[in-house]
Amino acid sequence: MSKVTVVGAGAVGATCADDIAQKELCNEVILVDIKENFAEGKALDIWQVSPINSFDTRVKGSTNDYSMTAGSDVVVITSGMPRKPGMSRDDLISVNAAIVKSVTENVIQYSPNAIIIVVSNPLDVMTYQAYLSAKMPSTRVMGMAGILDTARYRAFLAEALNCSPKDIQAMLLGGHGDTMVPLPRYTTVSGIPVTELIDADKLNAIIERTKTGGGEIVKLLGTSAWYAPGTAAAQMVESILRDQKRIFPVCTWLQGEYGLKDIYLGVPVVLGKAGIERIIELKLNAEEMQLLNDSAKAVKEVMNVLDNMIASA
Ligand code: LAC
Repeated sequence: MSKVTVVGAGAVGATCADDIAQKELCNEVILVDIKENFAEGKALDIWQVSPINSFDTRVKGSTNDYSMTAGSDVVVITSGMPRKPGMSRDDLISVNAAIVKSVTENVIQYSPNAIIIVVSNPLDVMTYQAYLSAKMPSTRVMGMAGILDTARYRAFLAEALNCSPKDIQAMLLGGHGDTMVPLPRYTTVSGIPVTELIDADKLNAIIERTKTGGGEIVKLLGTSAWYAPGTAAAQMVESILRDQKRIFPVCTWLQGEYGLKDIYLGVPVVLGKAGIERIIELKLNAEEMQLLNDSAKAVKEVMNVLDNMIASA
């Protein structure tokens, strides 16, 4: 019997729960929201897809009753305010930190052995907040951003190269923000280095578009994305529950890797049933290292804001 809880039944959480159910990644999905009857309604709607698309993962909703989440193997936290046009992810910190703190405490009370995947923004710092509140080994508390960011990068590349997105593999480092570091040297199209297939200036334009890919959607929709973020989180759930040991960029607690310490940042990891089973250290060149350090600095500034908020509370 495997069980996943998704906290936050907004568009990201509902998409994630839906994808988990449609792929039958576990026996039961519990969707939780603080808004009265909201998670129940979304869960009922998703469950009613089961006879049509033929899945038997049971989907149930709960208004803030965490006893229903007891014994979850994986918990995805999507709660919090999304971005509005003109806002950066960092503008959400004070509201979302309080939400992520209380959600994590509730989750841990009923599922002390769960693996936690944070999706709330500002992503890297909210993952840090969950780590502080969960008091669990850092291998079990992680954030989803890299799969989403590389998906955007891969989708843009597929379009530019007029090829299938399935054939594009890519790696990316850093925080989930405009300082993220897509890595052309680690981007291939069916094993062919991408630099052999596309001009440098076109590739650079795609990298720049990727960095602000979330903002592009906020501008179009007036709120942030959900299909790709929700599905990306579900892919992490899959790798954990099925012990696939896939290698993804994941927001991870670094303890000296890449010369960085006491920071949550996106790096390649092996994701399996124990959570983050291994951190992969790439041999970066000087320029890549500089970009990663810039990204770390931007994340650390927001982490410091959170540390100061906690210290003065
Ligand atoms: C994005 C938000 C979810 O990148 O951070 O779309």
